Amino acid sequence: SKLAKELGIMKQPDPFKWTNQIVMNCADIDIITASFVPEGGEEINATGFNYQNEDEKVTLCFPSILQKGSGSLKIDFVGELNDKMKGFYRSKYTTPSGENRYAAVTQFEATDARRAFPCWDEPAIKATFDITLIIPKDRIALSNMNVVDRKPYPEDHSLVEVKFATTPIMSTYLVAFVIGEYDFVESQSSDGVTVRVYTPVGKAEQGKFALEVATKTLPFYKDYFSVPYPLPKIDLIAIADFAAGAMENWGLVTYRETALLIDPKNSCASSRQWVALVVGHELAHQWFGNLVTMEWWTHLWLNEGFASWIEYLCVDHCFPEYDIWTQFVSADYTRALDLDALDNSHPIEVDVGHPSEVDEIFDAISYSKGASVIRMLHNYIGDEDFRKGMNAYLLKFQHKNASTEDLWECLEQASGKPIAAVMNSWTKQMGFPIIVVDQEQHGSDRVLKISQKKFCASGPRNDENCPNWMVPISICTSEDPSCTKMKVLLDQPETTVNITNIAPDHWIKINPGTVGFYRIQYSTTMLESLLPGIRDLTLLPVDRLGLQNDLFSLARAGMISTVEVLKVMEAFVNEPNYTVWSDLSCNLGVLSSLLSHTDFHEDIQEFIRDLFTPIGMKLGWDSKTGEGHLDALLRGLVLGKLGKAGHKATLEEARRRFKEHVEGKQTLPADLRSPVYLTVLKHGDSTTLDTMLKLHKQADMQEEKNRIERVLGAIPAPDLIQRVLNFALSEEVRPQDTVSVIGGVAGSSKQGRKAAWKFVKDNWEELHNRYQGGFLISRLIKLTADGFAIDKMAAEVKSFFESHHAPAAERTVQQCCENILLNAAWLKRDAEDIHQYLLQRKAPPV
Ligand code: BES
Ligand code: ZN
Repeated sequence: SKLAKELGIMKQPDPFKWTNQIVMNCADIDIITASFVPEGGEEINATGFNYQNEDEKVTLCFPSILQKGSGSLKIDFVGELNDKMKGFYRSKYTTPSGENRYAAVTQFEATDARRAFPCWDEPAIKATFDITLIIPKDRIALSNMNVVDRKPYPEDHSLVEVKFATTPIMSTYLVAFVIGEYDFVESQSSDGVTVRVYTPVGKAEQGKFALEVATKTLPFYKDYFSVPYPLPKIDLIAIADFAAGAMENWGLVTYRETALLIDPKNSCASSRQWVALVVGHELAHQWFGNLVTMEWWTHLWLNEGFASWIEYLCVDHCFPEYDIWTQFVSADYTRALDLDALDNSHPIEVDVGHPSEVDEIFDAISYSKGASVIRMLHNYIGDEDFRKGMNAYLLKFQHKNASTEDLWECLEQASGKPIAAVMNSWTKQMGFPIIVVDQEQHGSDRVLKISQKKFCASGPRNDENCPNWMVPISICTSEDPSCTKMKVLLDQPETTVNITNIAPDHWIKINPGTVGFYRIQYSTTMLESLLPGIRDLTLLPVDRLGLQNDLFSLARAGMISTVEVLKVMEAFVNEPNYTVWSDLSCNLGVLSSLLSHTDFHEDIQEFIRDLFTPIGMKLGWDSKTGEGHLDALLRGLVLGKLGKAGHKATLEEARRRFKEHVEGKQTLPADLRSPVYLTVLKHGDSTTLDTMLKLHKQADMQEEKNRIERVLGAIPAPDLIQRVLNFALSEEVRPQDTVSVIGGVAGSSKQGRKAAWKFVKDNWEELHNRYQGGFLISRLIKLTADGFAIDKMAAEVKSFFESHHAPAAERTVQQCCENILLNAAWLKRDAEDIHQYLLQRKAPPV
């Protein structure tokens, strides 16, 4: 398909007196003619178009001088409706009758508007857009603004011309249009904005949940920011082929189907939660990103970090029963700490130039560390002053661009606190501190010695010029574990703090709520006094989680023994909290993957079974009346863990229920499907795989297809693993989902890891071409290369990417190599002790 458009562009961005050239961004576009009409002057035709393909630019050359002043630039051009999920692309869908068709959709962030039309494609070059689309008359067309005119196209009666209202002044990366066949549900938010959720034809019902979230969220943000949503409408639309999770185009937010559609019967609790978070995230961008836009991609984290924080605030408002802030800690906070402990991390604010460098920073540092430092800042400032500052920032910079410093200045004014000084230490230097604490009792006082040094995943280093952070530290005691007893701002390498009136047998905990972005190393006596708080649940859930997570990462860094952590994990037998289990389960997964390189892998499986059995027995298989969202999540987690680890009773029951499900006797409730599928596959054969692939083919919802795709890799036999890998690249799997199928194989077993890595190498050209080097390729590399644990694999990964370039994944490759070396060192250091511990805990007591 071809696209030709006329553009009216008013002026060159940089001041100039005269020139005979105009330079614009442009990629994979052929310009046919271009001309410039100065205001009140004669049209001048461009005589040459010089494409600088590497820089994604074109120079239009004019035969005579263009004087400074207004005018309009007209360009006739042809572009390609590509299949790379970027720029203006086609997205395949199947009609209810089974026919394949294509929708035409856009994805411009970060630097792909230039693939749809020549433009100045930078966030700070804002313009208004008047968009007209000529489309087949049986399709609908959507764009950022409402339709102002739809009329037959004179030259061809099968077409109509759809004209949209002028946009506010905005950045190119937020422009969007969609042409296709969709149904929708509609509602009005309390502040008068028309909200529609567009779904595939026949699935309008599945848009209702997102519609409800969106209509609640808009007034929530309006109130939080004290700034109304500025457009008359907002559309949320599910796109079949979609690279990211969702995209915040102003007034026309695009989503993967799985991030928007919910079926009351067939969607699980975690999908509902995901949809709520993604809707909350993208709608926040309508203010933070769209109304006020970052000055340059260096400040991308402002957009993404902020939205990744406030999405939780929004979901907490809409669904308090999700206990979503605890989940933030295991989903974002710990992930950010892990990545940022690497030597190959990067500061939140980072210089970027070339588009591949921009793609590279859509990572856990911008998102999860960004969100975590904003959470810490919000806690340090307090909600009231934080909101005051946010409001000032949005009003001051609306319809303009802003930088990180601009936000700090507004928050500083609102709070009277040294925000810039504190925050610069977190956003301009990479990494974070480990806070080392020791205590002494002096009568009824406790004196704490607190110091900071950089935390490195490879363990302590004696660095001369060790960086320092401005660390807001809060402290609580066993008297009231949920109440901060004292706050200090640690702005030097070390300090002492005096806590008065505390009994010698009371414990002290640093960082209650696990808000500060740092890890903690307690002295032995302090740690020992805290551990009973895990067993008797007097520590808060987030703090039980945080303590365990700190210890786990200290073990990986060689600062404590992994056996110590295993002992701590055993103290979680009485744990009732989903998120705490989820984090524990994740760390045990890491350990299990590490020990898959040894000959005692089965012993850690047994440890996992023992740890999860009591809670599994307590929960049972069927939900009980009065249970809620978190019970559903916990049951799925625990049964999946038990089944995967080969717990006999769980395996048998999973097989029984699977059989009934397949035979149509008793459909599995949505929340049990993932754990059951995983369990039967992990212990399954070719018949199991065939059955799963059949279920996949029959599935009508993308959620169900993805659910199956993600666990297929659990199949153990090598020839079946190969079948799953080939399936990943087949027509059956959406292009964006190939990554999770291959990743599932890599994450499942030692054989899977090897096979997946070989598969990526063997199919490199196709994979790289499929994603055009975008962020999905980084994700694929991370999923397939990260888990090895021998030194020579680090060398192999490095050398592969020396001859197979992936510019946007350079840092990811370095991080993977670093992780492989860390795994190898960890294994060498601790494997024997772990083995001994696992053996002796089984030995009958003498
Ligand atoms: N602005 C991003 C979409 C995006 C991501 C564009 C990567 C270009 C490259 C959007 O706001 C976003 O962050 N989406 C997330 C989902 C969100 C809930 C974390 C995503 O796509 O993963
Ligand atoms: Zn975002």
